Amino acid sequence: MKICVVGVGYVGLVAALSFAKYNNDIICVDKDINKIKQLNNGIIPIFEEGLEELLNTCIKNKKISFTQDLDVAIKKSEIIFIAVGTPTNDDWSVDISQVIHVANEISKAINKYKVVVIKSTVPVGTNDKIKKIFLNNGLNDKHFDIVSNPEFLREGKALNDFLNGDRMVLGCESKRALKILEKLYRPFNTKLIFTTPQTAELIKYASNAFLATKISFINEIANLCSKVNANIETISYALGLDNRISAEFLKAGIGYGGSCFPKDTKALVSIGKEYNSSFNIIESTIEVNENQRLLPVKLVCEHYNDLNGKIISIFGLTFKPGTDDIREAPSLYIINELLKKGAKIKCYDPMVSNEIKNIYPDIIYCNNIYETVDNSSCIIICTELMEFYNMNLKELAKIMNYPMLIDGRNIIDMEKAKKSGFQCYYSIGNGSYDNN
Ligand code: UGA
Repeated sequence: MKICVVGVGYVGLVAALSFAKYNNDIICVDKDINKIKQLNNGIIPIFEEGLEELLNTCIKNKKISFTQDLDVAIKKSEIIFIAVGTPTNDDWSVDISQVIHVANEISKAINKYKVVVIKSTVPVGTNDKIKKIFLNNGLNDKHFDIVSNPEFLREGKALNDFLNGDRMVLGCESKRALKILEKLYRPFNTKLIFTTPQTAELIKYASNAFLATKISFINEIANLCSKVNANIETISYALGLDNRISAEFLKAGIGYGGSCFPKDTKALVSIGKEYNSSFNIIESTIEVNENQRLLPVKLVCEHYNDLNGKIISIFGLTFKPGTDDIREAPSLYIINELLKKGAKIKCYDPMVSNEIKNIYPDIIYCNNIYETVDNSSCIIICTELMEFYNMNLKELAKIMNYPMLIDGRNIIDMEKAKKSGFQCYYSIGNGSYDNN
């Protein structure tokens, strides 16, 4: 099938390459000329496992190309995916201006029947708005159908999630369009759900908000564990064995980050307000997360009354392992707060590119964990990178000014920290001690 994908961010790129893998012919369109050049040369601008190999195979097989020319790409394609960004406005509403702009451009380029699929995460009613734009631009039902097809892939596991997702949601009332998409998705190992555009749009927000709520819930239980000497890891394990609860997203830590949960939870509250529908649970989820990500700052301040001039070592900057993405990462909120309190920050994250150095020019970026802890008064583990699991803790404790460890992702055993010479250790509901 001939497909055009507009927007080569995470979702657009993974979708395009997955379709190309199954022998469809893909033209990707993006306004960013640098991205287009890189991609046509087989270079992926983000880090995502397996993507670059697949891109090069698809380029070699002439199954994918990248261009800025939307008009030509639309005319050549039977299905058009819109996968452009939908950032958050200051009032938590969703900025759909890029989707609207692209829809206008697409409607001008349409020469015969096309299926237009909205993959971007958009508030309820957006598919209807797009349909109106097409109708206002002189098109009618014979020229197009609009389908809502939200995406559920995770960064770090994006390809696998797209190719073997739990479900693919298709929101549309046109049998003609659904037949075409059913054919497109047939080779994918997934369950198809056919519904209305409004329901499809809401499934996306409900999924992300529910997962975020699970995280905030387990984090509140973990915080109680710290006070009553109970163990969150055992509690999560026991909860997860109950199929009604499921074991996923019960890992306590310093909160969720990334480009999705923070944005989509706020969007759902804002959508609720628009329709006079309260979302107390989601509002609490957001509030719990905002406090949770600053928990390490609270702990370090309780230990040292004054942080002025103290070196704090941040292990891991990305919002989770397996990605180079730092958007809304808890580490950034922690660093900001520590800087305000006069601390000096040394950090280590092998995944993070130079762009962060422009955001935080005052921070010292180190090449390894040992450099990072030199003269340091505390380590804060913000991301559970593989290399932090089996660190030589004894060696780290020796180098530090004072061996204090805050394990924000519960990857270091308390007894091991004790034996290695750490004088002070905190986890998230998985034990703590302070020898002072
Ligand atoms: C999330 C959803 O999981 C995807 O299904 C969805 O498609 C995507 O958002 C999106 O809307 O595009 P992603 O943001 O890539 O995916 O990352 P997750 O793996 O969901 O993790 C999000 C955050 O939650 C991370 O900061 C992670 O550390 C944290 N987390 C996750 C926990 O603190 N505990 C857990 O048990 C699980």
